[in-house]
Amino acid sequence: MELDESVEAILSDESNALDGFYERLFQRYPEFKYFFAGANVKRQTAMLTMALLAVKQYPALRRSSKDYLEVLGTKHHGLGIANELFPKFIEVLVETIAEFHGNDWNAALDKQWTDALNYAAAIMHQSPHELVFRVTSASSS
Ligand code: HEM
Repeated sequence: MELDESVEAILSDESNALDGFYERLFQRYPEFKYFFAGANVKRQTAMLTMALLAVKQYPALRRSSKDYLEVLGTKHHGLGIANELFPKFIEVLVETIAEFHGNDWNAALDKQWTDALNYAAAIMHQSPHELVFRVTSASSS
């Protein structure tokens, strides 16, 4: 199984494949709970699942996905999330995906996911701490 097929399976799974990710994360690394106080886990899981679409484009990441990961990075900088937390997050995420795939999981897929997520994390780390958005005025004057 390749990364593409893995994402396809995750996105089309009837029960959300990543359900249980945050629970597993908080159980192993309670220090993460602080950041998600007040967050809606269902919403969070849905957003994380869709973000995998951008992540899986590694190594031929498209410009649009890079832009997306950069915006995501800026959001995480704003939340005060240190780069050091990413390896733990990625470790638990890969484990959750591995459990979802069961017998279809193998070392090559493990490496593909880990590399793709580390690459995405590197883009997030390098993103600006503040993005300035300008909405052009619709007025023609
Ligand atoms: C490759 C790694 C990661 C990916 C792909 C990822 C993805 C996402 C996505 C898609 C969102 C939703 C953004 C939105 O609301 O617009 C989000 C929000 C968030 N992420 Fe991450 N994330 C990653 C790493 C981390 C790490 C290491 C932490 C550490 C605590 C973290 C904590 C959060 C928090 C606190 C939110 C906001 C929750 C809220 O709405 O209250 N993320 N992340």
